[in-house]
Amino acid sequence: MRFLSGIQPSGNITLGNYIGAVKQFVKLQEHPDFTDFMVFVADLHAITVPQDKQELRKNIRSLVAIYLACGLNPEKVHIFIQSEVHEHAELGWILECNGYIGELERMTQFKDKKEKQVAGVSVGLLTYPSLMAADILLYDTDIVPVGQDQKQHLELTRTLAERFNNKYGETFKVPEPFIAPSGAKIMSLTDPLKKMSKSDPNPKAYISLLDDINIVKKKIKSAVTDSDGKIAFDKENKPGISNLLTILSCCTDNPIEELVLKYKDSNYATFKEDVANAVADELKPIQERYNEIINSSLIDEVLDQGRDYASYLAKKKLAKVYNKVGLGRKR
Ligand code: AQP
Repeated sequence: MRFLSGIQPSGNITLGNYIGAVKQFVKLQEHPDFTDFMVFVADLHAITVPQDKQELRKNIRSLVAIYLACGLNPEKVHIFIQSEVHEHAELGWILECNGYIGELERMTQFKDKKEKQVAGVSVGLLTYPSLMAADILLYDTDIVPVGQDQKQHLELTRTLAERFNNKYGETFKVPEPFIAPSGAKIMSLTDPLKKMSKSDPNPKAYISLLDDINIVKKKIKSAVTDSDGKIAFDKENKPGISNLLTILSCCTDNPIEELVLKYKDSNYATFKEDVANAVADELKPIQERYNEIINSSLIDEVLDQGRDYASYLAKKKLAKVYNKVGLGRKR
C-alpha cells in the first residue's frame, strides 16, 4: 500500500499540523501494510496566497528538517519538494480541465481563505484542490493521511479520479483518507472555535514547533477557556478545555476519558501547567534534532533521492494520462 501526504511551507508548522499530520506519518511508517510512503513539501500550494521569496525558501528547508526531526525515517519514506517534480503541475492542469468551477467554489477552505485576501483572490486558490488531486493521483496512492480540514479536498480527489476513469478508461487508483481518531482538528488557542493555522496573523493563536519552550508554555497557559472551572470534554460548550484535553491526550498517549477522571478535581491553572509541560516535553527533543539537522547535508541528500524516485513514478503516470487524453504524439 502506498501512503502519500504533504504540508505547505506557508509558515512554521504548528502543533496542529504536527498532531494532525506529521505525528501520524511517523506512526504510519511502522504500519505493517505499507510498502511505500511519500511525503512532500507542498510549495506550489503555498503560493496560492502571497509569499515572501526569502521566507518561502527558508520554510521549505525548515519543513524538511522538521519532517526528519519529528522522526520520519528517510530509509522508509521518500521526502521531496513538489515543485521539483513538474508532473504535479501538468497533471493538475489536466484535472482542472475535468473539474467544474461549481465544485471548486463549494470548498470550505476556498471560502474561508478568500475572505482573508486583501490584494485579490488568486485563481490558484480556487483550483488548489485540482493540484492536490494531481499530487495524490500521480502516484497511485492508496491512503492519504490528513487532518480533518482536508477531508473535503480528498473527496473531490476521489470524484475527479472516478470521473476521469469513466471518461478515459481505468487510469487512476481512487484513494482513501486516513484521519486520526483524535487530534485531527486542533483548535486555535485564542479562538477555540477556529482551527489552529500556521498563517494565523496572531502568533498567540498557534504553537509553532520551533517556538522557544518558554513561549510555548506561556501560550498554553494563556489559552482561552471558559469560566465554569470544571475540566470536562464537551467540544460544543467547553471548546477551549476540550482542545487542551485533546492536545494533552495526543502528547502523552493517554485517552481523554482517563485525563478527565484524573483532572476532575483540579483547577484550570494546574491543568494548564500540566498541558504546557507535556507539550514542552514533546517539542524539546524535536527542536534539538532540528538544530542538528537544519544546516547539515542530510537535507539535500534526502531531497535528491526523493525527487528522483518521485520523478520516475510521475513521468510514467503522466505519459499514460497524456495518451488516454490524446495529447501530443503517441508515446
Ligand atoms: N489545526 C489542525 N489540526 C490538525 N491537523 C491540521 N492540519 C492543518 N491544520 C490542522 C493538517 O496538517 C496538514 C498540512 O496542512 P497544510 O499545510 O497542507 O494546509 P492547511 O490544512 O491549510 O494547514 P494550515 O496550518 O491551516 O496552513 P495555512 O495557514 O497555510 O492554511 C494537513 O493534513 C492538514 O489537514
